[in-house]
Amino acid sequence: MNRVLGVLVSGRGSNLQAIIDAIGAGRLDARIGLVVSNRPGAQGLERAGRAGIETLVVDHRSFPSREAFDLTVVRELKQRGVGLVCLAGFMRLLSPAFVQAFPNAILNVHPALLPAFPGLEAQHQAWEHGVKISGATVHLVTNELDAGPIVLQAAVPVLDDDTAESLAARILAEEHRIYPEAIRIVLEGRWRLEGRRFLSR
Ligand code: GRF
Repeated sequence: MNRVLGVLVSGRGSNLQAIIDAIGAGRLDARIGLVVSNRPGAQGLERAGRAGIETLVVDHRSFPSREAFDLTVVRELKQRGVGLVCLAGFMRLLSPAFVQAFPNAILNVHPALLPAFPGLEAQHQAWEHGVKISGATVHLVTNELDAGPIVLQAAVPVLDDDTAESLAARILAEEHRIYPEAIRIVLEGRWRLEGRRFLSR
């Protein structure tokens, strides 16, 4: 797999920052070819700009359909030679057309131990449910939301005096640790899928 990353953000971009920092520190041998945001004001755009990375706003509100938006993003990524797409707080569902354009080459980070608590506000869902352990998951993206093969997970204990926010902060620290590591493993290429099991040598 080629080592050009395309990172998709919608907001804060702290996972994007973790990827930028891992590359800068030599822990991840990759280059970010493009950062795309569907929101014009996303903080992730500033982070990319500061790191000298090309950015692009593709505002979903100016497209007639999800597919039209997705195909524009796919075209821009392909034009920059992107081999691996990293969703980093990207708040849009991907259409099958997008997923097909990057088969087994899209990663997402999710703030819970999937398959528990998919969807929005996973940290709050876990806290409210009363689980004693939650965590973070990096997975390959398929057509089903938050359901693709799992590359890496990290467990985070839920403490009695946690709020949803304090739990989210500890989970986020684990996201920042495992996302660049999962990208490294996927780029290395020494992995295979057995059913939905991601196995690396
Ligand atoms: C993270 O918690 C990530 O797991 C979820 O959205 C959040 C994005 O945060 N998908 P950031 O934009 O990377 O700071």
